[in-house]
Amino acid sequence: GSSDFDLYRPREEHDLLREAIRALATDKIAPRAAEIDETHEFPHDVLAALTASDFHAIHVPEEYGGAGGDALAACIVIEEVARVCASSSLIPAVNKLGSMPLILAGSEEIKQAYLPRLARGEGMFSYALSEPGAGSDAGGMTTKAVRDGDDWVLDGAKRWITNAGVSEYYTVMVLTDPEKRTHGGITAFVVEKGDEGFSFGAPERKLGIQGSPTRELYFDNVRIPDSRRIGEVGEGFAIAMQTLDHTRVTIGAQAVGIAQGALDAAAAYAKERSQFGKAIAEFQGIQFMLADMAMKLEAARQLVYVAAAKSERNDADLTFFGAAAKCFASDAAMEITTDAVQVLGGYGYVKDYPVERMMRDAKITQIYEGTNQVQRIVMARKLLEQY
Ligand code: CAA
Repeated sequence: GSSDFDLYRPREEHDLLREAIRALATDKIAPRAAEIDETHEFPHDVLAALTASDFHAIHVPEEYGGAGGDALAACIVIEEVARVCASSSLIPAVNKLGSMPLILAGSEEIKQAYLPRLARGEGMFSYALSEPGAGSDAGGMTTKAVRDGDDWVLDGAKRWITNAGVSEYYTVMVLTDPEKRTHGGITAFVVEKGDEGFSFGAPERKLGIQGSPTRELYFDNVRIPDSRRIGEVGEGFAIAMQTLDHTRVTIGAQAVGIAQGALDAAAAYAKERSQFGKAIAEFQGIQFMLADMAMKLEAARQLVYVAAAKSERNDADLTFFGAAAKCFASDAAMEITTDAVQVLGGYGYVKDYPVERMMRDAKITQIYEGTNQVQRIVMARKLLEQY
């Protein structure tokens, strides 16, 4: 019906939000983006600016002191920040990823303990599922927790943890029953940065998102109280997967933002760059590239917004749409940013222009929160269930 259709489209409040976050991104983040990429430093100034306007974790419900933004609002914030700086967009994105397990499945007690702190900007959240030997096969994890009276004792390691070291809180999925594994043998907990026996590996040296640290987590007999458990014992894998259903949409939004930034740069360049006596934008070869880039971008954006509406309503087909939005938008972003480099030619390949950074940053969106091959497994399973 028409009301369903309206939900897929940004409303006036979303337009106002977009104006506000775009202004902040233009003033405070865009001028820092090249430097963040160059220095590989986490942008504490950007975090402070986002936090001052409640954009660092807009998804936190009002009853926990948050701004109560809906799923589309979170996407708009992430998209507009990613348009100028993909590294910085991981602040709102990973705060949502790390805290969604609490929002979806946490007890009132654990929500009250952590969500207001996140909302107030006292600490960021990270999400820890992958391990050195368990990436796409997330259920192949070996990090475990053993119950000891009212406590749990964690041992093992997690890998590829976004914002590790700068986040205060970590949602960690661990084995609590190695026999049951993904079918009731995994449980989710909150681990805090200062917990005894909890430490970090060296920052990974990587292709892009240089301003967002990626590190290993080590758990050496980390003792935490049962009140740090998220949801029931054994529910952790389902909670982790439900979380990704929602947050793959936000990775789609990040990809859309990166791609929009690249299209902006390519189109502006094409109009100002002159060869053979005229602007290169007057050549059909360039026009067709720009048209394809804009078409793919708009298709990706619409799919992300539909998926955001499904995330907001927790629709039964969210698993398919979350995977589809993430996969389609990230593949589109890789193509669009690569073409943006091509439109700029030699200038595209050097750091005087932002498009080579955008191309490097786009690549991770095809990999994290599940590779695009995993997204296709998820989509195919959901598709074939219907026949
Ligand atoms: N919602 C609820 N429950 C779900 C679910 C979902 N979307 N998906 C699976 N489950 C449940 C199943 O129903 C099943 O439960 P039962 O025991 O009741 O039957 C259980 O979980 C096991 O499911 P599967 O048998 O389907 O599990 P699998 O081992 O075949 O794995 C997979 C499926 C889709 C491949 C999964 O392992 C996966 O998503 N892999 C990719 C992992 C991933 O995305 N990692 C990203 C890490 S986060 C990151 O990158 C973030 C960052 O830092 C920015």
